[in-house]
Amino acid sequence: MKRKTIIGAVLALGVVGAGFALWMMWRPEIAAVSQPQSAGRDTLDRGRRIVEAGDCAVCHTRPGGDYMAGGLPLITPFGTLFTTNITPDPETGIGKWSLPAFERAMREGIARDGHFLYPAFPYVHYRKLSDADIADAYAFLMSVDPVKYTAPENHMVFPMNFRALVSFWNLLFLHGDPLEPLPDRSAQWNRGRYLVEGAGHCSSCHSPLNLIGGEKSSELFNGGIVDGWTAPSLRGMAEAKKPWNETQLVAYLTGKVAEDHGAAAGPMLPVSLSIAQLPVQDAQAIAHYILDLKQSSTVATSPPCPPVTNAVAKALPGASLFDGACASCHGAAAPMRAIESRPALASTSAVTADSPRNLIQTVLKGIPMSTSDSSHYMPGFADSLDDTHLAAIAEYSRNESCPTRPWTDLDKTIKSIRAQE
Ligand code: HEC
Ligand code: HEC
Ligand code: HEC
Repeated sequence: MKRKTIIGAVLALGVVGAGFALWMMWRPEIAAVSQPQSAGRDTLDRGRRIVEAGDCAVCHTRPGGDYMAGGLPLITPFGTLFTTNITPDPETGIGKWSLPAFERAMREGIARDGHFLYPAFPYVHYRKLSDADIADAYAFLMSVDPVKYTAPENHMVFPMNFRALVSFWNLLFLHGDPLEPLPDRSAQWNRGRYLVEGAGHCSSCHSPLNLIGGEKSSELFNGGIVDGWTAPSLRGMAEAKKPWNETQLVAYLTGKVAEDHGAAAGPMLPVSLSIAQLPVQDAQAIAHYILDLKQSSTVATSPPCPPVTNAVAKALPGASLFDGACASCHGAAAPMRAIESRPALASTSAVTADSPRNLIQTVLKGIPMSTSDSSHYMPGFADSLDDTHLAAIAEYSRNESCPTRPWTDLDKTIKSIRAQE
């Protein structure tokens, strides 16, 4: 090669490299629009359903705050992040965003002005939505009441406070096109897959995360931990020790009590209340798809527990505490069980799980009153039970369901959950 050609090649490489580096750090701004056009009723209805299916309000509405105005803190291992205002206010919300700007945010995690958005915003899932669904969601958001509100500043730890680093994360985790139906599967299965993997972003909580907060692709739906709760594995539910059927799953997913299993609490409660807003066929499709997720070989399942005799259960100190604090609702003779035929606590996944985390969380925080089912309410006991009493009640409940494998990490788990409050 001649010397000139080599220099030329090196220069060209340099330019390409610099261009790539710049592209990694920055994206162009998309021009502002003045007030976007209003949409027809059908479009708005469809858009509202996408927005429900995507739980947008769960994150973008802070407790006591205006609908979609943002400001909810999300605590991540990399610092605290606040959701932003996605009402159509032109100054503090997304009122100046065109549809292409919105679509770029949903598919690539880039804001209108070109900055990278943190992946706590589940754009890795929303990118799987169809163009039409994104357009309808946009039209709906542009129709909500504009609110002037700016979320507090984020507190991300170094080096995560540099947003440009997200571009490396995106190289690893941002791929896949809008989901196309698989021709060999039923329409219901395909609808379920679209809702679960796209808008519903179920695997973001129900999968283990790696050290930089990406979902482990080989372990999708194997179960994860979110906000100090266990999000159980969604695989093999039809063949579980206590199997789920479609009717039970649909009830659970729509904020009701599932026969033999109980009801959603913690971070799953708002998800189920959102699904309850969708046509019931959507909940059925989600259940149908979930029941088809096969048990994966990487999850160790513990053996079932042998049946229990009452004598063993009653001997524990937690028994009288349970009688006082819990039995009025969860005791065998309580109206909630006798009349409404709710499942015994011992058979719910909070008690049969390998970790006591969800039982402790439920008892401390309770289950807030929700509009879908007012009898689905449980008071929180954070102020009325001390750690020793809570541990005794947990020990007793576990013993009723699995005396051969008591929880050994009760005190530690209670302390760590209390410390997060
Ligand atoms: C799990 C929580 C979560 C959910 C669910 C969620 N978002 Fe967000 N979203 C965020 C966070 C956090 C940010 C801010 C990210 C940042 O500042 O880097 C954000 C930012 C955005 C932005 C960029 C706004 C701006 O001002 O830069 C848009 C647009 C957006 N979300 C739309 C949506 C839509 C539409 C949905 C529902 C389909 C949705 N989000 C659901 C957490 C969420
Ligand atoms: C924000 C995190 C989060 C998201 C998103 C989420 N889940 Fe959950 N899910 C949880 C947690 C936490 C629990 C445990 C709740 C409890 O024990 O009351 C749970 C429980 C469940 C259960 C009960 C499992 C069992 O064995 O008891 C099912 C079924 C379920 N989720 C399905 C879904 C589906 C389907 C989606 C998507 C449409 C979804 N989840 C999205 C956090 C989440
Ligand atoms: C005022 C009635 C009430 C009282 C008192 C009460 N609970 Fe509950 N609890 C409920 C309701 C309602 C639910 C949700 C419906 C269901 O799962 O059956 C629930 C759910 C739970 C769950 C989650 C079960 C699941 O579905 O996964 C646990 C665990 C639990 N309660 C434990 C307790 C314990 C322990 C006490 C006593 C410290 C207690 N509760 C006191 C009403 C009550």
